[in-house]
Parts: sequence; structure tokens; C-alpha cells
Amino acid sequence: MVYSLFCSRGVVALAALGSVLQTIGGVGALPLRRQASSNFTTLSADQIAAFKPFSFYAAAAYCSPSTVLASSCGVSCSANPTFQPLAAGGDGAGVQFWYVGIDPTLETVIVGHQGTDPSTIVPLVTDADFDLQHLNSTLFPGIDSSVQVHSGFADEHAKTATSVLSAVQDALHKSGLSKVTIVGHSLGAALALLDSVYLPLFVPNTTFSIIGYGLPRVGNPAFAAFVNSNVNVTHVNNKEDFVPTLPGRFLGFQHPQGEIHIQDDNTWITCPGDDNTDKRCTTGDVSNIFEGDLNNHDGPYDVVEMGSSQCS
Ligand SMILES: *[C@@H]1O[C@H](CO)[C@@H](O)[C@H](O)[C@H]1NC(C)=O
Ligand SMILES: *[C@@H]1O[C@H](CO)[C@@H](O)[C@H](O)[C@H]1NC(C)=O
Ligand SMILES: *[C@@H]1O[C@H](CO)[C@@H](O)[C@H](O)[C@H]1NC(C)=O
Ligand SMILES: *[C@@H]1O[C@H](CO)[C@@H](O)[C@H](O)[C@H]1NC(C)=O
Repeated sequence: MVYSLFCSRGVVALAALGSVLQTIGGVGALPLRRQASSNFTTLSADQIAAFKPFSFYAAAAYCSPSTVLASSCGVSCSANPTFQPLAAGGDGAGVQFWYVGIDPTLETVIVGHQGTDPSTIVPLVTDADFDLQHLNSTLFPGIDSSVQVHSGFADEHAKTATSVLSAVQDALHKSGLSKVTIVGHSLGAALALLDSVYLPLFVPNTTFSIIGYGLPRVGNPAFAAFVNSNVNVTHVNNKEDFVPTLPGRFLGFQHPQGEIHIQDDNTWITCPGDDNTDKRCTTGDVSNIFEGDLNNHDGPYDVVEMGSSQCS
């Protein structure tokens, strides 16, 4: 690896992360993708550490917009000291918090989406009132009509989509960067995944990646296939968290590739393919919710806990 040539934290972190994403097929030259993604890989300590800034960014999305804009959201802000927040919104009740800013160290624009606590996300992903629906063709022009997503997630995404888009355009313009990394945990990961499909439709010449934590299933197999071909996606699942197993595959939902599953012994393993049923991966490990443990949903993801308790 070439990153030992550099010594700044950001370059090291980004280079190590790049190698992880390449390993799991999230980022990198397309020819590597299929070949590498058919392998299980155990992440090195450096590769796990490279997720830390992004995990804190996902945690910061739980904090109120005013504290994020003031860089005063406790450990979730202080962990990324060079971050320059530019815009934030939502009310944390009817509209999930979100924020956009610039990380000059990691050389990426960051988009964060707030999640929900376990007692809120489970009803949402098990509520029979929500079904698979087509993407709104105004927000998602040109996406094939076979692609369908959870209607609750789509409705939530639509509330903030255009505000996030203008903030991202502003951040790219101000920073001169050409890379956007979208993060979120739980419902926030689902919103981040929808953003990773939505934003590139309106923002040319820019590289997008999403890093989600405890991501529920967002769409149908056509959605997963679209994501696999068009999005650099990584989703980290912690131990027996069962949120990523919902909504069920029998309801027509499917995960895209890019899973990393934190094992009971705290090793991080890349799971090739979509919804891998191997016991080392969430779908195989947590075959029903009774084998799951909702206490694992908020983390820790390495050292990072998700939730509003980390905002002060
Ligand atoms: C899996 O990994 C091993 C060891 O790195 C490598 O030799 C093999 O070619 C890989 N297989 C695929 C299908 O990528
Ligand atoms: C699609 O999104 C646009 C813009 O947000 C909105 O005006 C329109 O009502 C939406 N259409 C449907 C069918 O929800
Ligand atoms: C995107 O990049 C290409 C090649 O650098 C350039 O020709 C094109 O004008 C750019 N498009 C936009 C919308 O900036
Ligand atoms: C995914 O990442 C690669 C490598 O950084 C980049 O070339 C590609 O454009 C990215 N894809 C998207 C959709 O941004």
C-alpha cells in the first residue's frame, strides 16, 4: 500500500478506506469489482480505523442543526475537528435532521442523515402500511420503472431532497472538491442510500460514496441491482442487530452488495454479494428477529456509538 508515504491522518485514513472499499467492491476500478467481491475478507486494524471519521459523521447527524453548524455537538463533532459545516436542517420530529459540510482533511463533501432509535425504526420497517413504490420521476428522472423502494423511506427522503441537493452543490462549488460521501445510521442509512441514487442524477463529474450503519432493506431486487451498478456502497452491520434483516426478503426487499459484518469477536468481515446467507453475514447470522439483539443496533461500530446521547 502506498499510504505509508504520507503522514497526515486524512490521507492515511482515506487510503486505507479506499483499499477496503476496493476489496468489497464499493469503490474502485470496475474490473476488480466482481472478482474481489466474491471473497470474504477480514479487515485490518488500519482498515477498521479508516471508518472512524465516517462513523462519527453518522453519529453527528443525530445532533441538532444548530449544534452541528456551531461544531459544538460533543464528541460527534470534536472527532472531526477540521470539518466545516455549511448547511443543516430538519426538526428531528416530522423531518429528520440532515447536514452538509466540507472535510478538507479527507477531501470530501459530507452529507449526514439522522437515524432513529431502535424503538422507532422497527415499527417503521415492519409496518404493513408501507409497501414498495416506484421512485418519484421528478426526483429520480430516468430510473427504470422496475426499480421500487419502501414508500416510508421514499416519503422521508423527499422531504429534504432538494435542500440537501442545493447544499451539496454549494459545498462542491465552495470547496472545489469533486467527491461526496453520504453517511447515516438506521433510517439515516436508508435516506443516505436514496441520496446516493438521487444526487448523482443532478450533480455531474462528481464521485459519490455512501457509508451506512445498520441499514434496513430499502428496495426491491431491481433497486439493489441499480445500486450495485451505479453506487459505491458500504453498509456496516453490528453483530446480531436485526434491523438490517427488515423488511423481509419474502416481502420483496433485497440489500445491495457492500456489507461489512462486525462479528461477535469484533472482527470486521466483508460479505460478498447481496444478502449473503453465510453465517458470517447478517442475513445468515440473524435468520429471524428472535436470534437478533436490538441492543447491537446503535453500536458500538468500532468505538463509535450512534444516537443523540453522543451529542454532548
Ligand atoms: C479470493 O482471494 C484469494 C486470496 O486473496 C485469491 O487467490 C482468489 O483469486 C480470490 N478469488 C476470487 C474469485 O476473487
Ligand atoms: C414528486 O416530487 C415532486 C417534487 O418533490 C412533487 O411535487 C410531486 O408531488 C411528487 N409526486 C408524487 C406522485 O409524489
Ligand atoms: C464534466 O467533465 C468533462 C471532462 O472533464 C467536461 O468536458 C464537462 O464539461 C464536464 N461537465 C460539467 C457539467 O461540468
Ligand atoms: C465510485 O468510485 C470510483 C472510484 O473513486 C469512481 O471512479 C466512480 O465514479 C464512483 N461512482 C460514482 C457513481 O460516483
